Amino acid sequence: MAGKDTLRVAAVADLHSTRHAAGLLQPLFAHIAEQADVLLLCGDLVDYGLPEEARLLTKELGAVKLPILGVLGNHEFESGQVDEVVKILCDAGVVMLDGDAYEVQGVGFAGVKGFGGGFGRAALQPWGERTIKRFVHEAIEEALKLESALAKLRTAQRIALLHYSPIQTTVQGEPPEIFPFLGSSRLEEPLNRYPVAAVFHGHAHHGTVEGKTSGGTPVYNVAMPLLRRSFPRQLPVRVLEVPLPQPTDLPSAGTVAVGSGTAPEGNGAR
Ligand SMILES: [Fe+2]
Ligand SMILES: [Fe+2]
Repeated sequence: MAGKDTLRVAAVADLHSTRHAAGLLQPLFAHIAEQADVLLLCGDLVDYGLPEEARLLTKELGAVKLPILGVLGNHEFESGQVDEVVKILCDAGVVMLDGDAYEVQGVGFAGVKGFGGGFGRAALQPWGERTIKRFVHEAIEEALKLESALAKLRTAQRIALLHYSPIQTTVQGEPPEIFPFLGSSRLEEPLNRYPVAAVFHGHAHHGTVEGKTSGGTPVYNVAMPLLRRSFPRQLPVRVLEVPLPQPTDLPSAGTVAVGSGTAPEGNGAR
């Protein structure tokens, strides 16, 4: 249970809520409502980007009487109705972050979807055809949005939520051929420039649950299918305890503790 000195941050991604999934997420959301103080949804909230999928999800989320922050994933764009999907989520009280900053009890959150392009020396460069340059430009724009959101926060603790991965470590487990479509090192740059306590992302359903940026910031892949496989005896959510600000706090990353859900033994995934 939370003490007065921590904020319990629950994070999950890739719910892929569909029209035929009514009720399936209720045990997870009931658990989160009890075990957390804020819920982060790291993209691919719905499956085909349909308004009716979003409406169904918001009904399920009604059980979570907590602040809920979200970022978009690629699936929200599939049907060309992303604005309607975002409106439905926002009308239901979900705070959708797209290069925006938000504070909960003095803890700062910066959110952006992110984009692909690959990692390290293998990252795609803006050279040659206009289409390649546009692709790389999209990743650069997302990284700039993340930087802008982080820069707005004056809190002692900052948490970043993304859909695409900022590092290669947490996509490992996926076929190497698709690494460039799972994230971009360009997203890592602002995370190394600003003190961030933790980063959450999804998208790589077959990736790795934990890694670190080159600056040492913990990165958690919270894709629901990955959490189900990695922690089969627990509900698919990560819960991070973040120290709440004290009057003497200066902006810094601080120390956090993370768990993979806190369901009792036998309360398995569904
Ligand atoms: Fe996904
Ligand atoms: Fe995705």
